[in-house]
Amino acid sequence: MKQICVIGVGYVGIVTGACFADLGNKVVALDVNEKRVENLKKGIMPIYEPGLDELVKRNVKAGRLSFTTDYAEAVNGSEFAFIAVGTPSGVKGEADLQYVAAAAKSIAENMTEPLIIINKSTVPIGTGDWVADIVRRSQPKPIDFAVVSCPEFLREGSAIGDFMQPHRTVIGSFDRDAASKVAQLHLPLRAPIVITDLRTAEMIKYASNAFLATKISFINEIADICEALGADVKEVAAGMGYDARIGRHFLDAGLGWGGSCFPKDVLALAYMAEEAGLEPRILNTVMDVNYERRKTAVSITAEMIGGSLSGKTIGLLGLAFKPNTDDMRDAPSIDIANELNVAGASVRGYDPVAMEVARGILPAVQMYTDPYEMAQGCDALMVVTEWNEFKQLDLDKIKGLLNTPVIYDGRNIYDPARMKDMGFKYRAIGR
Ligand code: UDX
Ligand code: UDX
Repeated sequence: MKQICVIGVGYVGIVTGACFADLGNKVVALDVNEKRVENLKKGIMPIYEPGLDELVKRNVKAGRLSFTTDYAEAVNGSEFAFIAVGTPSGVKGEADLQYVAAAAKSIAENMTEPLIIINKSTVPIGTGDWVADIVRRSQPKPIDFAVVSCPEFLREGSAIGDFMQPHRTVIGSFDRDAASKVAQLHLPLRAPIVITDLRTAEMIKYASNAFLATKISFINEIADICEALGADVKEVAAGMGYDARIGRHFLDAGLGWGGSCFPKDVLALAYMAEEAGLEPRILNTVMDVNYERRKTAVSITAEMIGGSLSGKTIGLLGLAFKPNTDDMRDAPSIDIANELNVAGASVRGYDPVAMEVARGILPAVQMYTDPYEMAQGCDALMVVTEWNEFKQLDLDKIKGLLNTPVIYDGRNIYDPARMKDMGFKYRAIGR
């Protein structure tokens, strides 16, 4: 039973804190956002994540998890301090580390005994050393500490499962004693533990995310070639996936990637490479291929309804960057809605969970709480997020509600043959 503090209760921090508490540790989670902390004390979650509500409540009840805005309360008595604050993209694509710096400084000012400071947030290569400098400079008096990199590999929508059954735990530190203490903390997860140096651990995180993004842009390019040559990319992905060296995961062709990680991490890695005087041609192409898809989706939909979007009404099925989350960060729906607006279409949107978050980001989109009401009078629908409930939609009913039976399936959730039989004008990706 160790005492841990987690700084930042966003997507990464709240899951990390609640899961470590569930493993039997005592966790104090801190955030500078007082509203967020107040809500958590009232049992209101800061984010939508399946299973989080119950996990947090159970551990708060057991006295293993508490929330505060006070650094002294969080740091005192803790052996580990996880930094899980945001690391958004800066103007040139670099990772903005101001929040990491603020957290490191506040930890240093409030620590009273030796502490292991762990970077959970995705931070550029070399940040570990930089955090150590900040801590050393900010301590009122020198107290022993170590900085360790322990990157997160959590997918939103499956973050608790990803934490409890990780493919691996990566620990980066020059301080062997600190590294083994952090390894001890992760032993109950019974996953392979990679212990390496700080920079290598930081790079493992970036290289992993950049590779997953590359895999998606790769299958999306293959989808375009399949479409041109008459092959079915879903079958291609299945056939490729049996090869253990390739693997079926992350070969779903569609509108490509968004979210708070891939966009910022691929951009940050390319930025680091360019800063080092290298030209990251693959990473730049992976990003170009990815963002092009949002424009293509709009131009294909325009084609399907006769060539012009002006004065037409288009309904977006799904707004979140992927299912099972309310996260709208760099969601394809944002660029698609903007493209449609620019082309003179009026845009409607429905999402089972992300509506409230989306409302603030997409003021020009008319939000509906029911997909059938949204479909009423639309000239086309675009599937943007593959929520399961869209797979069960009564398509006969939808067809009757649409002005013209046009569906652009940006996530390949429907069967082309069935859609054709039902009389839809239907476009999928790569099929
Ligand atoms: C994000 C990225 O998603 C992740 O890839 C990266 O590893 C870390 O940054 P996330 O949990 O999504 O992680 O960040 P966010 O949801 O923005 O939450 C950050 C939290 O930190 C917010 O609650 C914010 O209030 C808090 N914070 C920010 C602090 O507690 N202190 C600060 O100084 C700044
Ligand atoms: C990702 C990584 O998976 C995770 O390990 C890391 O810690 C954070 O970033 P996340 O961004 O939450 O997690 O979601 P993920 O499920 O990876 O999807 C990322 C994006 O890729 C989404 O926009 C999704 O729609 C898209 N995607 C994913 C595809 O387009 N095709 C796929 O086959 C898989």
